[in-house]
Amino acid sequence: MSNDRVIIFDTTLRDGEQSPGASMTREEKLRIAKALERMRVDVIEAGFAIASPGDFESVKAVAEAVKDSTVCSLARALDADIERAAEALKNANSGRIHTFIATSPIHMQYKLRMQPDAVVEQAVRAVKKARSLCGDVEFSCEDAGRSEIDFLCRIIEAAIEAGARTINIPDTVGYAIPHQYAETIAQLLNRIPNADKAVFSVHCHNDLGLAVANSLAAVVAGARQVECTINGLGERAGNAALEEIVMAIKTRKDLLDVYTNIETEHILSTSRLVSGITGFPVQPNKAIVGANAFAHESGIHQDGVLKHRETYEIMRAQDVGWNANKMVMGKHSGRNAFRARLDELGIVLPGEAELNAAFARFKALADKKHEIFDEDLQALVSDSLAEE
Ligand code: KIV
Ligand code: ZN
Repeated sequence: MSNDRVIIFDTTLRDGEQSPGASMTREEKLRIAKALERMRVDVIEAGFAIASPGDFESVKAVAEAVKDSTVCSLARALDADIERAAEALKNANSGRIHTFIATSPIHMQYKLRMQPDAVVEQAVRAVKKARSLCGDVEFSCEDAGRSEIDFLCRIIEAAIEAGARTINIPDTVGYAIPHQYAETIAQLLNRIPNADKAVFSVHCHNDLGLAVANSLAAVVAGARQVECTINGLGERAGNAALEEIVMAIKTRKDLLDVYTNIETEHILSTSRLVSGITGFPVQPNKAIVGANAFAHESGIHQDGVLKHRETYEIMRAQDVGWNANKMVMGKHSGRNAFRARLDELGIVLPGEAELNAAFARFKALADKKHEIFDEDLQALVSDSLAEE
């Protein structure tokens, strides 16, 4: 693999599912996994196989259905977890076991109640166990963002020696600041003697709103895998948003000088699929996939864009799956524009009669309201169908 490629590791189905209220059924996970595969995500973390029988079945089903992406299961650094992960992944075309243990003083003292030496021993045992069952093993130092650098060097060197080929440095609690996190990654790469035998990965949480910035700073410092989720879903304030990472790398290739394999035109439909399944709406001003991400409202901006698109647009809307000519829906809009907008929103009406009824309602509302927003259309179609 070229050293300029950043591996995109999507954890929507695992860390994303840890957002309170975002749990998904096996069928829902399968639909999302297929969308991620279509987008050419390199690694799909499908779940935490030992967490529940349902999660085991989901990981197994994703491992069997996905052919082009590596499918991964999370496992604590415990034999039972690792065996369960291996069992769930046994039919995968390409499977990965992702094992982890906490390395920060606060986690080792209060959560694990273990001495650092014992943590290193357990990590090594876990990586060896995972390697005996699977050729592709990732090791994570949980809470690396608050871990001591000397201890990280020690445990990571031992994990690589034991067979881990991806080393993940999670900022588990979203505590890092970009320049400081980048410095940590640079030091690890410099100081660990066998660092060249592994891909260094980052996994940033968004508690301070810095998950994407921290991930990109780490890439500049040499990380070559980024763990992220669609729409930034994830534990607490979420994870780094895949769409933002990928589009920052694509748009600022001049500065970052790396690339991903993601087919970006599938980003919007995947975002909508995840939002629809989890019930987590995407805020209108969300970068890349928010309803206003490529909309121009002020007259000055509209005028500029009409004269030259790049006056106010740094990306092409079509590159992430938008229809570039976003039409503002109002009383002058016709039936075809109405139908096209419903298609974009993923709203399928049963037939022409329902479309006509919804269109009549739309016209009546457009006489009273300056602009008809997507939320108005969604409500209007639901009301119209409810009255049928
Ligand atoms: O945030 C975290 O530390 C994690 C690990 C299990 C990778 O999700
Ligand atoms: Zn996490």
